[in-house]
Amino acid sequence: MKVLVATEKPFAAVAVDGIREVIEGAGYTLDLLEKYTDKAQLLAAVADADALIIRSDKVTPEVLDVAPNLKIVVRAGAGYDNVDLASATAHGVVVQNTPGQNSNAVAELVFGMAVMAARNMYDGTSGSELKNKTLGIHAFGQVGRNVARIAGGFGMKVSALDPYCPDEVITAAGVSPVHSVEDLYRNNRYVSLHIPATDETRRSVGYDLVSLMPKGGVLINTARKEVIDEEGLMKVMDERPDIKYVADIRPDVADEMLQKFPGRVFFTPKKMGAQTSEANINAGIAAARQIVAFLRDGENRFQVNK
Ligand code: 3PG
Repeated sequence: MKVLVATEKPFAAVAVDGIREVIEGAGYTLDLLEKYTDKAQLLAAVADADALIIRSDKVTPEVLDVAPNLKIVVRAGAGYDNVDLASATAHGVVVQNTPGQNSNAVAELVFGMAVMAARNMYDGTSGSELKNKTLGIHAFGQVGRNVARIAGGFGMKVSALDPYCPDEVITAAGVSPVHSVEDLYRNNRYVSLHIPATDETRRSVGYDLVSLMPKGGVLINTARKEVIDEEGLMKVMDERPDIKYVADIRPDVADEMLQKFPGRVFFTPKKMGAQTSEANINAGIAAARQIVAFLRDGENRFQVNK
């Protein structure tokens, strides 16, 4: 059995060592395709793979078509919008993710960017503190819960909106549940996005919501660029010079935003939320273990294309 790790943005070397140990320990072969620059490299590498570990790498019908032995794809991470689930199902391929394994890393970056925005992008002027400020968490999944935990240390007033999460879970974390998306934006100076990119959420955060934010509003996006209506966001930022946007994903209009709103926007060069050795080890090794458990015992607890 051949397991391919295909990562355009590679794991830390120590995580790859851990993955190798798990895969080879189970008697399988590990193949590595890191930092590939062309889809053709992925198509060639996957041709004889039985299992595939990826990150944000795109698994399209074309990839599935050329991999007749493929049985399982594990997205080492949370979001699986990069995998064509319907096509995987049609090809008889199981898709899994590794929820929670990289969420602390993403949550820590939220605060890296929140402090940066509060201190005026470190431009030397007098900024503000996070203590006693309001923070709205948009979706209370694994990352949102870690954000809430860390926000407690900063002394922030935290609320969260998540129609899929019972109020008791939110309350148990010391967070106030919010039941309308408008209230979340209206009542929080900081809003941190943790919604997945789905048909329901695509372009769902734009003018109508961001314009409700209080004075000095900061929108933090470590989720996906697709959830933002970029034109709508730019319109609010045009009208409201107090609003800032910091994101772990370069928007399509990044150059325009940087030029129009200097000192009010920040984008990482490449998605970096999960880019820590700890997160790579956690997610990478979890992915390897899930593959072994699936190939050996048919374990499919983390399957997302059911
Ligand atoms: C995720 O969905 O797990 C995060 O966005 C991390 O993605 P990455 O593995 O491409 O860094």
